[in-house]
Amino acid sequence: MTTREQGLFLRALSGESLSRPPIWMMRQAGRYLPEYREVRARAGGFLDLCYTPDLAAEVTMQPIRRFGFDAAILFSDILVLPHALGQKLWFVEGEGPRLEPVADAARFGEIRAEIDQDKLAPVYETVRRVRAALSDETALIGFCGAPWTVATYMVAGRGTPDKGPAKALFRDDPALFGAMIDRLVENSATYLIGQLDAGVDAVQIFDSWAGSLEKADFLRWCVRPMAEIVARVRARHPEARIIGFPRGAGELIPLYLDAVKVDAVGLESEIDRDFARDAIQSRVTVQGNLDPLTLRAGGEALEREVAAVLAAFGAGPFVFNLGHGILPDTPIAHVERLLELVRN
Ligand code: CP3
Repeated sequence: MTTREQGLFLRALSGESLSRPPIWMMRQAGRYLPEYREVRARAGGFLDLCYTPDLAAEVTMQPIRRFGFDAAILFSDILVLPHALGQKLWFVEGEGPRLEPVADAARFGEIRAEIDQDKLAPVYETVRRVRAALSDETALIGFCGAPWTVATYMVAGRGTPDKGPAKALFRDDPALFGAMIDRLVENSATYLIGQLDAGVDAVQIFDSWAGSLEKADFLRWCVRPMAEIVARVRARHPEARIIGFPRGAGELIPLYLDAVKVDAVGLESEIDRDFARDAIQSRVTVQGNLDPLTLRAGGEALEREVAAVLAAFGAGPFVFNLGHGILPDTPIAHVERLLELVRN
């Protein structure tokens, strides 16, 4: 990693302010691309795609070939971790993930203490293949889900609007929920270390549902576990570049930064940009925060919002991105226009 010359993305994560920011998009490999839909159809199931290095490497590279983003993100899913802990996982077409819920001590007792590394071997192999295929200037990002977000799926067995089942478990049985979070902390660190060993240049930890917790629960179930994961990863990879994405945490993000030693923080679209610049970008690199709906809309709105994002964050250490994943019905021409606007 250190022998290669660093491209814009890694320079921004090192705290450099650049005359033009690096850019990539969350969910940049996905259904808005016809070439993705073609490979996806060939793979059969979504999990088959994640666990087949040839195909996973191919879809990881597709948005790089088409758009020349400054970073590729490993094609996988945050739920492969509970899968590697032995929880049953499948994806229902057009709906999303389903897991056999783990919501009591008996079910938790059936979960492995440690991830089955054989199950994750294809993911590490995908990393090696993609890193070999990428140019030196393009970074490869690995990832996992944060314990709270992954636990919301483990407990409910699916996505839930209010995170009710996970909240009910931490209120009714905090010891059991705490044991589940600890299990995720240890294994997420192991998994990220495995990805770094295989050659990713940076990792992002997605806490998509951080915004569903009030302050005390946020500190206990998001901040504390995240601090521990980052410390464990840094014990093995002191130079690791780590991005935290406590989506929706808003004004609580400075508290997160007090404890979680990340190099950069992802910003959701709804955050107040003045606050984010003054209270967050003054401390770490920020990444974000164009609204995916604006990208889908295109036109005047897109021009205006890209200018606003650049005006707010362009002078400091910054990685251009969306505030959440690209929507499947986003026109490709809008992505092309976005790249022109950011790079001109
Ligand atoms: O960003 C990328 O291009 C890399 C790949 C990636 C996927 N999922 C592929 C995917 C990443 C980084 C994720 C993270 C992920 N997965 C998160 C955190 C980020 C976020 O979006 O909030 C979460 C919560 C999940 C769990 C998950 N996976 C859900 C809820 C769904 C269904 C919703 C949907 O968008 O379909 C998935 C499926 C999924 N993961 C798809 C992709 C490309 C769509 C599957 C398909 O092709 O049919």
